[in-house]
This record gives sequence, C-alpha cells and structure tokens, in this order.
Amino acid sequence: MSNAVRKAYDSDASPLHHYLLKHMTPLNPHLAKLHAASLQDQRGRMLSASEELNFLQMLMSAIGARKTLDIGVFTGYSALAAALVLPPGGKVVACDVTDKWANQYGRPVWKEAGVEDMIELRVAPALDTLNALLAAGEEGTFDFAFIDADKPSYVAYTRRRCGCCAWAASSPSTTPSTAARWPATRPA
Ligand SMILES: C[S@@+](CC[C@H](N)C(=O)[O-])C[C@H]1O[C@@H](n2cnc3c(N)ncnc32)[C@H](O)[C@@H]1O
Repeated sequence: MSNAVRKAYDSDASPLHHYLLKHMTPLNPHLAKLHAASLQDQRGRMLSASEELNFLQMLMSAIGARKTLDIGVFTGYSALAAALVLPPGGKVVACDVTDKWANQYGRPVWKEAGVEDMIELRVAPALDTLNALLAAGEEGTFDFAFIDADKPSYVAYTRRRCGCCAWAASSPSTTPSTAARWPATRPA
C-alpha cells in the first residue's frame, strides 16, 4: 500500500472521501476558485483537502474564533478558509517561508472575497514568526491554529501555538489530521 496521503481529489481516494466530498457543506465560491487554480500548479499536491478545511471552518465557527494562526500557507487556501469564517475585524496570521504561491494564486482571490485585509502574511520560518509573536506579548491572543508546514517542526509549533485554545495539525502520514482543544486561555 502506498504511503502517500490520499486526498478527495484523487480519483482513487477512498469511497469515504468521495462520500464526504459529495455531502459536505458546498465550498464557498472563492474557495472553489482558489482550489481549482492551486491544483493547476505543479506543487498542487500540497493543497489542503477541502473536506478538511470545511471541518476546520466548523470548529473555528463553533468556538467563535477571532484570531487564528495558519502555519504553512502555500497558495493561501487554508488562510482564506479561516478568514471567511472569522467575524469582521478578525485576523489570520499566515506563516510561510515564501509568498510566491500566495501572491500568484491567493492574494487576488483573498481580495475578491473581501478578506485580504484580514490575512497578515509573514514571510519567515514559522518558528521565527511564532517566537516573534510570543516576544511581542501575543501569547493567549490566538483562538485557533492550523499547522500544515514542515512536518519535523510540528512538536515545536505545537509548543509555541501562542496560547491557542484549539489547534489542528495536518497529518504527516496516512492517519487523519488531529485536532485538540485546551481550556480557552483568553477571557471572553
Ligand atoms: C502543505 S503546504 C501548506 C498548504 C496550505 N495550508 C493549504 O491549505 O493549501 C506547506 C507549506 O509550508 C511551507 N513551509 C515549509 N517549511 C516551512 C517553515 N519552516 N516555515 C514556514 N513555512 C514553511 C511551504 O513553503 C509550503 O507553502
């Protein structure tokens, strides 16, 4: 059996994946547009699965997230998914070592969707950005983190998740992504 992560857009993905895709909440049109464009890129396999982001959007909505971390941006698909469910004035701090794909694919769609101002893209190794956020006193100000970057750093990212009350990590193997919740550290 291949060790590769199967995604719903793979023709040989499992029947469960196909079922999820068929019955999940329909994708927001801006997300659908960015999804289609991202898959055209030769690095398109880095794209998060739509059903995964749908689930994370539900979690963010359920906890009333207002400020989130997006660690690993690629074309900005997960950052857009987060921004779309945050309330006005919400903020996504998006961390990546490059803004190449976000500028090419994501920014135009972020703009069309009216959420460009809610996404702050920080170009640097994510650990540096997280350390800078902690040093700037932002510990405890984030509600949610999606960790989807270089897998060896996941433990370090999780330790520095800036006091988020909830986080999710995209899986490095064939196992499903994990999500966990801590008691909220932020006053209501
Ligand atoms: C799987 S892609 C992210 C996919 C994105 N979350 C989405 O929804 O489609 C992984 C991204 O992590 C970035 N990355 C790799 N190492 C990194 C690091 N040390 N710090 C920040 N970003 C990193 C890569 O440049 C790439 O854009």
